[in-house]
Amino acid sequence: MLNKQGFNLWANNYDHTVQLSEESNQYPFAGYKTILNTIFNEIMQKSQSKVLDIGFGTAVLTSKLYEEGHTIDGLDFSSEMIKIAQAKMPTAHLMEWDISKGFPDSFKNNKYDFIISTYALHHLSDEEKIPFIKNLLTLLSEEGKIIIGDIAFKTRDRLETCRRDSINYWDDEEYYFVEEELYPVLKEFSQCEFHPISHCGGLFIMTRK
Ligand SMILES: C[S@@+](CC[C@H](N)C(=O)[O-])C[C@H]1O[C@@H](n2cnc3c(N)ncnc32)[C@H](O)[C@@H]1O
Repeated sequence: MLNKQGFNLWANNYDHTVQLSEESNQYPFAGYKTILNTIFNEIMQKSQSKVLDIGFGTAVLTSKLYEEGHTIDGLDFSSEMIKIAQAKMPTAHLMEWDISKGFPDSFKNNKYDFIISTYALHHLSDEEKIPFIKNLLTLLSEEGKIIIGDIAFKTRDRLETCRRDSINYWDDEEYYFVEEELYPVLKEFSQCEFHPISHCGGLFIMTRK
């Protein structure tokens, strides 16, 4: 699993690496464009929404939303990713923050129409993900939605199949979403849907109960 320095070093080459993995339909980024496009289209149903992006990276998704007039806030622990994203979205409120430390106090009173996160929350263990997501629900506006696009599998067996097929690149230190394990917990405090997109990617959509 990459730390902050690892992401700083990766920042300039990030988009190219993702493209290669996505185009060859391989773990980890198979389905990346469809995942981001689906989130983009969902947010575009509403005009001028307030969006929080957790782990926005080079802002592939949020910069498009920014161009369409949505208001963007974001958290990311990589100063190099922030530099790239801020150049694309000069008025976005982007904060350098490590989400393994929870949620920053200065964001706690904000309300968002959409809270999105793509390919970032697998850096939290399931024990960390659950309270983090629970907390995000409190930041949603009345009709707000959390949309998470990430490396995700319907079952542990499917994850294991992907691990075997991708053994040369597999990162054993990351914590991928497994629907059959997470859904029973998430549905206790949210309305939750899972949409598989590729053999290793999917979307979770959550609203308040
Ligand atoms: C794989 S990139 C995804 C970037 C972008 N969301 C996308 O879909 O292309 C993961 C991003 O999450 C950030 N990240 C990873 N762990 C983090 C942490 N603990 N706290 C804050 N940001 C983190 C990285 O700096 C990086 O920008």
